[in-house]
Formats: sequence, C-alpha cells, structure tokens
Amino acid sequence: MKIAPSILAADFSKLADEIKEVELGGADYIHIDIMDGHFVPNITMGPMIVEAVKKVTSLPLDVHLMIKNPEQYVKAFADAGADFITVHIEADPHIHRTLQEIRRLGAKPGIVLNPGTPASMITSVLEEVDMILLMTVNPGFGGQSFIDAVLPKIREVKEMVELKQLNVDIEVDGGINSETANKCKDAGANVFVAGSAIFNNQDRQAAIEEIRSQLSK
Ligand code: DX5
Ligand code: ZN
Repeated sequence: MKIAPSILAADFSKLADEIKEVELGGADYIHIDIMDGHFVPNITMGPMIVEAVKKVTSLPLDVHLMIKNPEQYVKAFADAGADFITVHIEADPHIHRTLQEIRRLGAKPGIVLNPGTPASMITSVLEEVDMILLMTVNPGFGGQSFIDAVLPKIREVKEMVELKQLNVDIEVDGGINSETANKCKDAGANVFVAGSAIFNNQDRQAAIEEIRSQLSK
C-alpha cells in the first residue's frame, strides 16, 4: 500500500518544506498534478516545478498529466525527473505510442481514466503500463468529493490485471481520505493519492498515518 501526497494542496510559497514534511511523515511517492487549462479547466505547473521538486526529495515523482497532446511533452517531464508519467486515455488518440515513448525515455508509463470512462477502454494497453490511475473525481481541482460510482470500476480493473497476471499498480486519485481509501483498497487499489486530506492537516505525518492505519484494517 502506497500513499502519494498531491502537492496541489501544498503551500507553494514553501514547497520544499512541505515536501520534506510529507517525506519524513512516511509518504511513498510525491504526486504532481499538471494541468493545461484545455484538457481540464485549471492551470497548474510544468516541467520546471518537477525539476525543482526532484532536487528536494529522494521519493519517486508521480507526474499526472492532465493536458492535451501529452505526446508533445512527455520528454520534457522525463528529462525533468519524473519517475512515473501517467497520461489520460481521453487526451490522446495515440495512447499506445505515447506509453511506449514514456518507457523508452526511462520513466514508468501509466494510464488514467476519468470517472466517466469505462474500464474496457484500456484492454489493449494493459501490457504497456506500470500503473493504472482511476480518477475518483473529475480532474481539475483538489478538494472535491469522492465519487462512489467508481468503486465497481476499480474491481473490474483489478480483475483485468489479475486475469492477465500483470504486475500493475492500481492508483486512485480524488477525494481520498482514510475512509474512502479503505473502500478503494477493498475494491483492489494499492496506491492512494491524497491532497487536501494530507496538506489541510497541520500535522501531515498524523494525516498519513491515519490513512495508513485504515488501510491496514
Ligand atoms: C485532481 C487531481 C488530484 C488532486 C487531489 O484533478 O488530479 O490529484 O490534487 O486532491 P484531493 O485529494 O484534495 O481530492
Ligand atoms: Zn492527480
């Protein structure tokens, strides 16, 4: 079970401190949300921030691309130090090629599905990915409420990877707190992104431990 704090909810005026705090608090990955104002209605950060984050942590960087034309930018994010690069299937008509390109660049490819996108969309690319990210909110903003209707899809994807005996992580992102993380774990998820549940708590370590203790139940 891995916990990936999303820095979208961090205080950017002291980003290095925020990252150190979650690293010391027991985080497994740092989740970085890249938004372009086109694929999603919000603009956040680019490769420069990924490069800066890389300098202040030894944790793997989980870079979630919520951008149009992701194939044009995967190299910039790989060069900036991304360990995982996850791409939305809804954003890329040539997703198979983009996933292979990510691997060729030395990063771990992941595929992302919006809440409204069926699991069957990814059957042809399962062998190409190290991670499947199932959005549990509609992407664009932190602090939204978890969508329960995604739970059956987590089960479905878990069955798909088990059937093919693939070693693929199943990540969930959006509205994750100790309670919703536990529901996702029961459905088959093993990587949990949390933004506000961690950074809105003054004690980040306690927030991470709270999620982890629920996951061990
Ligand atoms: C949403 C982002 C999430 C977001 C999660 O578009 O992909 O990673 O930061 O934030 P919370 O945990 O607050 O829902
Ligand atoms: Zn995200």
